[in-house]
Amino acid sequence: MLSVSEGFWLCCSLVCPCCSSKSKDTSEDPVLSGDSTLLNSLEVGSNSGRTPGTPYRVPPSPSRFSLSPQPNKLEPLNLSLNEIIKLTRNFSSTQVIGKGDFATVYKAELHGGQLIAIKRAKKEHIATIHAEFKNEVELLARIEHRNLVRLLGYTDKGNEFIIITEYVPNGTLREHLDGKYGKILDFSQRLEIAIDVAHGLTYLHHYAEKSIIHRDVKSSNILLTEGFRAKVADFGFARTGPMEADQTHIQTKVKGTVGYVDPEYLKTCKLTVRSDVFSFGILLLEILSARGPVDIKRSDERITVRWAFNKYKEGNERQILDPQMHEVVADLVVKKILALAFKCAAPTRKDRPAMREVVEQLWGIRKDYTSGSS
Ligand SMILES: Nc1ncnc2c1ncn2[C@@H]1O[C@H](COP(=O)(O)OP(=O)(O)OP(=O)(O)O)[C@@H](O)[C@H]1O
Ligand SMILES: *[C@@H]1O[C@H](CO)[C@@H](O)[C@H](O)[C@H]1NC(C)=O
Ligand SMILES: *[C@@H]1O[C@H](CO)[C@@H](O)[C@H](O)[C@H]1NC(C)=O
Ligand SMILES: *[C@@H]1O[C@H](CO)[C@@H](O)[C@H](O)[C@H]1NC(C)=O
Repeated sequence: MLSVSEGFWLCCSLVCPCCSSKSKDTSEDPVLSGDSTLLNSLEVGSNSGRTPGTPYRVPPSPSRFSLSPQPNKLEPLNLSLNEIIKLTRNFSSTQVIGKGDFATVYKAELHGGQLIAIKRAKKEHIATIHAEFKNEVELLARIEHRNLVRLLGYTDKGNEFIIITEYVPNGTLREHLDGKYGKILDFSQRLEIAIDVAHGLTYLHHYAEKSIIHRDVKSSNILLTEGFRAKVADFGFARTGPMEADQTHIQTKVKGTVGYVDPEYLKTCKLTVRSDVFSFGILLLEILSARGPVDIKRSDERITVRWAFNKYKEGNERQILDPQMHEVVADLVVKKILALAFKCAAPTRKDRPAMREVVEQLWGIRKDYTSGSS
């Protein structure tokens, strides 16, 4: 079923020698060619008698843990730099909630009590981020989906580049997998998180007439709500898909995070939505195993996907699961979800499913899990 040869997943270098060449790839990607019949076929959701869902309309979840985030109405904000300075107490360190490589993130409260996150680009990165992000910001600001962190506004005045998003209160997925908050995510919560991320990405990939490629899908970019539902964050690397019908990819400098990057992208520098699917496959393994994609401190296999695939081939798939996860999960469910992860992380793009197929398969797995089939 899986045709995976070894050695493909080693993404040790993010340097791509071919980025400057302007060659055109003619390979077909149905996702980018806007095949609406494929989309329509999804309307026939199979969801055991409940209201059928689509990747755009989330079906009611059977899990008792999965309180969906409120469909809150977040209005776009138009904050001046002075107002931002006031809200963050002049970017006071007491307001900092996160530091990334490119930005510092502050928490602030609006007068009405609404919490927001204010992401301020580091001075040395403003020029790059600005060039990358400016064109997309208007588009991204229009995107509203419960599994995508809502972009509320931005400012690029006064030698600043600042993005304002909704505040998501419960830490990153990676922090939860590391057990930072004491409580270990159970299987059901992990499955719901995987489905949420898949919904968010499906929506991005099919947004309007353009597809939006996230480009940096990883566990530290998945934020959790109070109900442990997931929202995909950090569209800083997002790129809109090609506009012309005959163009099936966009060429960019290689961006992304080691371990999650599509090996075909590294080879060719051609980015498609299937690059996100690869990252999602790696993320799914991470959700199940709690291992990061690459762990140089391990004495055994350091590349998680290769480690997991070997276990899977040997029939030892249970050893892949996070040992801290204690509930009983049927063999069938474990096998199916791992097979899906490997399919997403297939070395070759054409072997990877589209995100909407991933969503459907995850729904099926959830059905198997909740009906307790073995
Ligand atoms: N909307 C938000 N709500 C709550 N916390 C957030 C939000 N956005 C970011 N954070 C926190 O800030 C941290 C850093 O943010 P982020 O990852 O976006 O920065 P970055 O510079 O883009 O990082 P990276 O190097 O991973 O791209 C996150 O790990 C998270 O803990
Ligand atoms: C945002 O505010 C600025 C200055 O306060 C104003 O010039 C601009 O028109 C506003 N934009 C919108 C979309 O309201
Ligand atoms: C904010 O802090 C900077 C230095 O970090 C300072 O130069 C500036 O005057 C401060 N602005 C306000 C309004 O306090
Ligand atoms: C996550 O949310 C729960 C409530 O659902 C809360 O008890 C817990 O403290 C939160 N954790 C963090 C890190 O905010």
